[in-house]
Amino acid sequence: MSVQDLAMVYPAHVSEMQRRATEALGRGGFDHLVVPSGTSHYHLFDDRDYPYAVNPQFKAWLPLVRNPGSWLVFTPGQRPKLVYLQPFDYWHVVPQAPAGYWLEHFDVVVIREPDEALQHLPRDPARCAILGEPQSTVGGFAPNNPAPVLQYLEFHRAYKTPYEVAMMRAATRRGVRAHRAAERAFRAGASEFGIHLVYCQAAAQDAMELPYNNIIALNEHGAVLHYTERDRVAPATSRSFLIDAGASHDGYACDITRTYAADTGSEFQALVDAVDAAQRTMCDQVRAGVDYRQLHLDAHQALAAILKDFGLVTVSPEAAVATGVSSAFFPHGIGHGIGLQVHDVAGFAASDAGGTIPKPEGHPYLRLTRDLAPGMAVTIEPGLYFIDLLLDKLKADGRGDSVDWSRVEAFKPYGGIRIEDDVVCTDADPINLTREGFAEAA
Ligand code: GLY
Ligand code: MN
Ligand code: MN
Repeated sequence: MSVQDLAMVYPAHVSEMQRRATEALGRGGFDHLVVPSGTSHYHLFDDRDYPYAVNPQFKAWLPLVRNPGSWLVFTPGQRPKLVYLQPFDYWHVVPQAPAGYWLEHFDVVVIREPDEALQHLPRDPARCAILGEPQSTVGGFAPNNPAPVLQYLEFHRAYKTPYEVAMMRAATRRGVRAHRAAERAFRAGASEFGIHLVYCQAAAQDAMELPYNNIIALNEHGAVLHYTERDRVAPATSRSFLIDAGASHDGYACDITRTYAADTGSEFQALVDAVDAAQRTMCDQVRAGVDYRQLHLDAHQALAAILKDFGLVTVSPEAAVATGVSSAFFPHGIGHGIGLQVHDVAGFAASDAGGTIPKPEGHPYLRLTRDLAPGMAVTIEPGLYFIDLLLDKLKADGRGDSVDWSRVEAFKPYGGIRIEDDVVCTDADPINLTREGFAEAA
């Protein structure tokens, strides 16, 4: 989507933000919403700073992700105000003068020192819902993060505006381009570190901008769910490649996983294809009114059927699920909300006024338990892994007969499989941003 297109959909986004903020302030009994963009943090006993991460409550309003010390102020019935820090500083590149399609929707004041913000914030901090971290405090404006305000905003943040979907599309386009380059590097025999560099180059983003640490796993490393080591030297033989890597666009994330076999005629490729086919069916279930917990439980059934088809389990799929054997091969949740954060907030929120929807018993790693509704963006990321720690447990606790260990040994050198797409629920067919992105790039 071009900048002109974003300019078309942004006004509706900012007015929805105002509508939500007005309601949230009413619930908390406050007159003003005050949101600091955040500050730089430093290593202990050192003058080195950590990469700056903008306050998500701030970037929800406007696409500014590199502006520590700025503030957003909203008073219902008035235009939102941006207090924009543009320091005098010759050590660092300072933010440009504010510009962009969003600018006309804000009253902007430029400040040169962080404390100058005080002159532009509401008079009485006690009347303000101040959303941020303690380090952002200036004067009497210490973040108070009132629960009713946060609960309302975070619950509704699950429902993306068309502008936000456009932002996620842009992030996806960048991520897909980099995934394609990474696959080529894998097939050319690159090391994990080398593939990572190729990915960053193709995405034109590095650790400062990527929404999470790349998972680039060859062979057995695919069995480590969050493998972020990156061997500098390529293995003698690269059999398989699991890549879980994203990209960002002005604060919005994509989260994409693909798994490849070096030998496309191999049984491992067939297993990848089976998981891929099952994953597409799961993505098609991202529909309004569907309980996301059910998607997770259904995924166990589908994956257990694949385990049975490939002779990895000896019992029926139903029995594999009922006895927890499927969880040894699929030990994480089916996915999570995504948007401003890779793992978006309020995954368990029962309502916009609080409450928690519990995870299904025996599924502690599921991150989203809400019913799906139009606008929600979620990942669908089933996987099958050969993880010694979990498989040994099956053996040790008497469930070893449910598994064909010779088949496990045959697949272990490939590590594991995960296929992950980002999918938007609508009131009709779901939008699979990731598949769309790969189709566009084909
Ligand atoms: N990349 C982390 C996840 O898939 O949730
Ligand atoms: Mn994910
Ligand atoms: Mn991922």
